[in-house]
Amino acid sequence: MKRILITSALPYVAGVKHLGNLVGSMLPADVFARFCRARGHETLAICATDEHGAAIELAAQDEGISAADYSAKWHNVQKALGEKFGLSWDNFGRSSSKQNHELTLHFARALWKNGFLDVRTTKQAYSPTDGRFLPDRYVIGTCPHCNYDRARGDQCENCTRVLDPMDLKNPRSAISGAQDIEIRDSTHLFLKQSGFSDQLRVWIDGHKNDWPLIVTSIAYKWLDEGLHDRGITRDLDWGIPVPDDIADGKLKGKVFYVWFDAPIEYIGATKEWAEQQGKPDEWKKWWLDAKDVTYWEFMGKDNVPFHTIIFPAMIMGTGENWKKVDRLKGFNYLNYDGGKFSTSQRRGIFMDAALDVAPADYWRYYLMANAPESSDSNFTWEQFAGIINKDLADVLGNFVNRVTKFCVARFDGKVPGEGDYGDDEKALIAELDQRVAQYTEFMEQADFRKAMGELRAIWVAGNEYMTRAAPWTHIKTDRDKAAVGVRMGLNLVHIFAHLIWPVMPVMAKKIHEAIQPIAYEDGAIPWVEMKMAQELDQLEHGQPITPPELLFAKIPEEVIAELKIRFGGSESGTP
Ligand code: MF3
Ligand code: ZN
Repeated sequence: MKRILITSALPYVAGVKHLGNLVGSMLPADVFARFCRARGHETLAICATDEHGAAIELAAQDEGISAADYSAKWHNVQKALGEKFGLSWDNFGRSSSKQNHELTLHFARALWKNGFLDVRTTKQAYSPTDGRFLPDRYVIGTCPHCNYDRARGDQCENCTRVLDPMDLKNPRSAISGAQDIEIRDSTHLFLKQSGFSDQLRVWIDGHKNDWPLIVTSIAYKWLDEGLHDRGITRDLDWGIPVPDDIADGKLKGKVFYVWFDAPIEYIGATKEWAEQQGKPDEWKKWWLDAKDVTYWEFMGKDNVPFHTIIFPAMIMGTGENWKKVDRLKGFNYLNYDGGKFSTSQRRGIFMDAALDVAPADYWRYYLMANAPESSDSNFTWEQFAGIINKDLADVLGNFVNRVTKFCVARFDGKVPGEGDYGDDEKALIAELDQRVAQYTEFMEQADFRKAMGELRAIWVAGNEYMTRAAPWTHIKTDRDKAAVGVRMGLNLVHIFAHLIWPVMPVMAKKIHEAIQPIAYEDGAIPWVEMKMAQELDQLEHGQPITPPELLFAKIPEEVIAELKIRFGGSESGTP
């Protein structure tokens, strides 16, 4: 049995996430975690809300509540929505937790003790109009690299380069738009990253073959451009305060930078999980000297520098044996109808609204089948409806309905035992031996588009077989031949339930219950054995089955038109 640790980039606590956020981290992490559990691996899936930072402090101000109350409120909203989407975390923690406070101080003290933190006086943006220091992301202006005119002072969302607010052309305050930005002195801690360049390069070289190109190319770009030391404290109230024993109290009143404590919360949320389990030391076996653990991280491309350079450098700097990522699955962006999904502009589809349109499993399948893996991908309502109507309703749903209803109509709703599998069945078994092995391999590599393509091909093979076997024709002349077709059809429906569980857990359960009276309550529906000859002749002859209720409802054209207006798009504009 393998041990698999899975984390997805922590969503900022501010507000409901959109489908672009979901597809680049939480959803693939969940599909992968479910797959690992189905395979029988010891699996731990960890996520949390990322709660600190300027953006959250300001969002709380806007709502007129404290940052702590604001975070608690939106954490609960996100947790409930994640659960509705079937995200089966072992723990969905909070970066403001006491575990994360403790671990963050542990990291900071180790780095301080080892001489990797420097105290420096920096020039920082200050807005007299706003009466405060402006955190980096609250200075906006034109990106010096790509000329995007709404780049934030910490990072350009267009070209992903990390920035300093002073780099921006035409800087202005994101709070008030004021251009009277002054530069004042402020003392901060810096992580001496440059010292880790060589060690990082050796480590990244070791992953050239198992990280996607999008990930290694970003990491090498950073190394090649040369690492700069990074400020890891901020002039904010909300966050993890710098303790007095670091730098003799020179940083009183400052907190750690959100990106310093957020990745540590992967560990914090694991510790919290262990405590919830009543085994308070159990987290260590996932994180310290954990050689037998394979650690997978899932994230969008804008998060890659933090996970390939900064967090690993922090770990290296402690001199302790913390687990570093083994497999880093980075994603490009999902666009919405030719433009960007945008939280600030409320453009695109958000997790709550998505569930008003279609059940979670429809979205899960659609999003994984179109995951932005090797390039950005684009959402359109036509494409979404096309995939639901064709792949799910016509191919999968219709197959399940046809076979089970026919079994009820002509074989008394019991798995028929007459007749023997012949050439057609053997050919199908041989084809599926290959396809299921291929699907499994793609899932093992978290190669989701290819995996979903293979899954669809498995359903199509089943349909084509059924068309050839045509029990509805043979029933009139050769009952045994019809029975063989129905028996194979029911066995196919049964393995479909097993194969779709990681991606469509609710449908999988419905289908499974229709065919086999084994209840897989909350746990995984286990993966199939690799021998299709056995898998496809597994159901007991004479065993009853019940056709499931309608599985997949088609999305009619009028509805597509309505959705386009309701959600807005490139043609219709944002409502
Ligand atoms: N909140 C960040 C974002 O949405 C991701 C944080 S990932 C972690 O971009 F590593 F810091 F946890
Ligand atoms: Zn840019």
